[in-house]
Order: sequence, then structure tokens, then C-alpha cells
Amino acid sequence: MNIGFLITNWEEIDPNKSSTLRVVHECVLRKHKVFILYPQNLTVRNNIVHGFVKEVQLNEKISDSTITFYKKTIFKEKLTPLHAFDCIFIRKDPPIDSLILNFLDSIKSETLIINDIEGLRKANNKLYTTTFHDPNNTFLPITHVSKNKGYLQKVIDESKSDKMILKPLDGSGGRGVIVLEKNAPNNISSLLDFYINRGSEKTYVIIQDYIEGAEQGDIRVLMLNGVSIGAYRRVPAKNEVRANIHAGGTAQKYVLTEKQKHVLKKIGPKLVSDGLYFVGVDMIGEKILEINVCNPGGISNINRLNKVKLQKKVVDFIEEKVHAKKEKRVEMEYLLKRLSELRNT
Ligand SMILES: Nc1ncnc2c1ncn2[C@@H]1O[C@H](COP(=O)(O)OP(=O)(O)O)[C@@H](O)[C@H]1O
Ligand SMILES: [Mg+2]
Repeated sequence: MNIGFLITNWEEIDPNKSSTLRVVHECVLRKHKVFILYPQNLTVRNNIVHGFVKEVQLNEKISDSTITFYKKTIFKEKLTPLHAFDCIFIRKDPPIDSLILNFLDSIKSETLIINDIEGLRKANNKLYTTTFHDPNNTFLPITHVSKNKGYLQKVIDESKSDKMILKPLDGSGGRGVIVLEKNAPNNISSLLDFYINRGSEKTYVIIQDYIEGAEQGDIRVLMLNGVSIGAYRRVPAKNEVRANIHAGGTAQKYVLTEKQKHVLKKIGPKLVSDGLYFVGVDMIGEKILEINVCNPGGISNINRLNKVKLQKKVVDFIEEKVHAKKEKRVEMEYLLKRLSELRNT
């Protein structure tokens, strides 16, 4: 199979940690042709979407060690039409520029895109959890989104919690997540101004109830095709509210509780129907904070803590899904042929 990975930069990969690298390595070990593609190298040549891609060269024996594989990888660059790929795996930090999705629109019937373009459009920021419809907050924290300062101020005043979280709607890696303390109200107006007026236009911000127990860490769950395949706990550093690894959080082994599994079972089918095949769900207790759909990490931590190789499951899924997509196309082409034959008789 021809498998393309749309990533930000191969040179910046940390071979000890990267989830993407583990999936790339597994594909190469299975003798698939692997290509690395950068968003800035997407190109249209005479109305057909191409990319200047870097093809992984399979000259010598491939090392079983991901780190050695990374160090030894050499590439050959070429201009390739993107419909030549069986699968394109988007592994780029959010938010995704909608132009990238436009580039891929023309190939989506032939090529498996993970995650599906329509799914990425829907889930490109933290508004996606509103589509889970949980009016009684059984699994979503009380959350408000607005760019209206007066309204947000009112929400904070009315809240019964003495601690709330303020964060940008389109953030990632814990950037800009802060705690608002009701007993320090003097800061709130200035913070709201700062967050709302970050850019040339006003930006949306989230005000969310602080979830009790967050000090013990949050849980990153990796879900493949709507089913949890692994999880680990991220514990925030001292004097830090954010558990993200980028913000100094540390990884610990974690076994999901029955209640957490129940919540994940509820959202799994919707993720699949939205084409969100490989996602990272962030949870505190039974509450879902966000669904990471662009470049969720966690494979290497879960592998290390549980002595597993989750990348095998991911590549099994890619192979099965590509196969099923091909079969469906053959079936459709046959049906269309039969239909036109019947019309002509
Ligand atoms: N409502 C909340 N209550 C307690 N901690 C929170 C809350 N929201 C975020 N955090 C902390 O901040 C981290 C980052 O928040 P998250 O919503 O996942 O945004 P990001 O996209 O930046 O990862 C979480 O992993 C958690 O540790
Ligand atoms: Mg998060």
C-alpha cells in the first residue's frame, strides 16, 4: 500500500516520544511504501492535486528499533498525485488550516483519509463536544463559549464554583489554560479582555467549571474506530493546572474505570460516524474535556507503561479500512456498469 503522512516537520520529530513515528515505522516494517508530506508542499498541477513528497527508501534491512530507524531513514523527493495514495494520515498539530482540507477534498473518494475531512471540519476545535448533547452534564463539564465579555463576566458571577477554568477555544498542548479564582475577582476583567482581544478580531474563549480531582491528573484515552485501545494518566507538575506533557506533565500507568468505559462507549459510535477514526480523548474522572482529532499523542507512553505496541493496531486498522474501501469501489463500479447495460437493453 502507498501510505502518506501529512506532518509538520520530520526533522523536529522526537524519536523517543513521537506517536506518528511509531506508526510510520510499523508501516515500513510491513513493507508498505511510506511518504512524508508537508502542508506547504501541497500543489495543484493541471487541476490535479499533487504533493512534493519524501518517499522513505527501503534500501537496507529495517531496524526493529524505532530510534535507529529514524536516524537511518533516507528519502527520495518526488512530485506525486495524491490520488496515488491508498491512505493519507493527517498528523499535524491543531488547528488545521481549512485550505489543507480543500486540497484533499478531490481525493477523498479514492483515498482513505484519517481522520475524515468532514470529521476534521466538525472537530477542528473544542466546540465539537457540544454535538454530544449532554444537557445534564453527565459526562461533559459545565462549559460556556463566547466572545461577549459582559456575558462571560455574568456567567462567572452566577457560577456556584469558586474556581473556574479559562482557556482559548482553539488551544492545544495546554496553551493558555488558566484558573480563575472567585476570591481574586480583580484579575478577571483584565484576563477576559486579554483573551478575547488576542488577534485583530475578537476571539472565542471557554469558561468551564473546574473539575474536582484534576490535581491528580487527567486521562488521555486513545480511541481507534470508536473503541478505546489504551489510556494513561498525565499528572501536572507542581503548581501547575495543566496536565499536558508539553506543560511538564508526567505519564503514569492507568486502567480505565467501568464508569469511564461506559462514557467512552457512548461517544464511540458518533466518532466513527463522523469519520474520527483515531482520536485522543482527554478526561478528568468521568468528564470529557476535549476530543483531539488532528495529532493525538500517547502511543509511546502507553506502549512503555503497558509493554504493548499500539501502532500495530493502528496499521491493522488502516489495512482493513483500505481493503474495505477498495472492495466497495469495485462493487459500486460493477453496479454502475450493470445499470448502464440494463438501460441500453
Ligand atoms: N475544566 C477543567 N478542570 C480542571 N482542569 C482542567 C480543566 N480544563 C483543562 N484542565 C487542565 O488543562 C489541561 C489542558 O486542557 P484541555 O482542555 O485538554 O486543552 P488543550 O487542548 O490545551 O490540551 C487538561 O489536560 C487539564 O489538566
Ligand atoms: Mg488536552
